[in-house]
Amino acid sequence: MDFLELVNKRYSERNFAGTTIEQEKLDKILEAGRLVPTACNYQPQKFYILKSKKALELAAKVTPFTYNAPVLILVCYDKNEVWKNKREEGYNSGEQDIAIAATTMMYEAESLGIHSLWIRGFNSKIASEVFELSDNIVPGMFLALGYPSEKSKPSDWHFQRKSIKEMTIEL
Ligand SMILES: Cc1cc2nc3c(=O)[nH]c(=O)nc-3n(C[C@H](O)[C@H](O)[C@H](O)COP(=O)(O)O)c2cc1C
Repeated sequence: MDFLELVNKRYSERNFAGTTIEQEKLDKILEAGRLVPTACNYQPQKFYILKSKKALELAAKVTPFTYNAPVLILVCYDKNEVWKNKREEGYNSGEQDIAIAATTMMYEAESLGIHSLWIRGFNSKIASEVFELSDNIVPGMFLALGYPSEKSKPSDWHFQRKSIKEMTIEL
């Protein structure tokens, strides 16, 4: 499938079927997250896999947006492994690095017939406490993964896209 077709096909899944996903597919999704570009190739991404009953219950304490997904990846970065920008005091590449990792995993999942939801509706401090993350680990987002249920359909938001004209500026 052409990549743009895949991009068009994907939508946020909020009606996961109960079935879990095959380990082989999860491995491919993680491999996609491993191979992404990162600033200076420092590779600060850390993937916490949540699929046991206990781990999923903990996730439900952190965010209400899991929609019974059978697998969640808490995508984090390690503050000690990020690129720091000498030209801009205080800037590091962590958020950008893991946004690329999460996006790439999202599209790999889609290519395997696995639906996904990007979740940022949570408080980082609470996530760190609940999952007992060490101080150097910064939680970025959950990527919920699973097969769609029969009720699955894109939300109205999915169809509300601005035009290219509204988002491009030629300088
Ligand atoms: C940074 C980011 C944070 C998001 N956080 C949430 C969230 O916490 N809960 C949720 O249900 N959807 C969340 N979403 C999904 C968006 O609402 C969704 O991508 C957007 O409405 C477009 O719909 P579509 O993905 O179906 O095309 C998030 C997406 C992004 C990129």
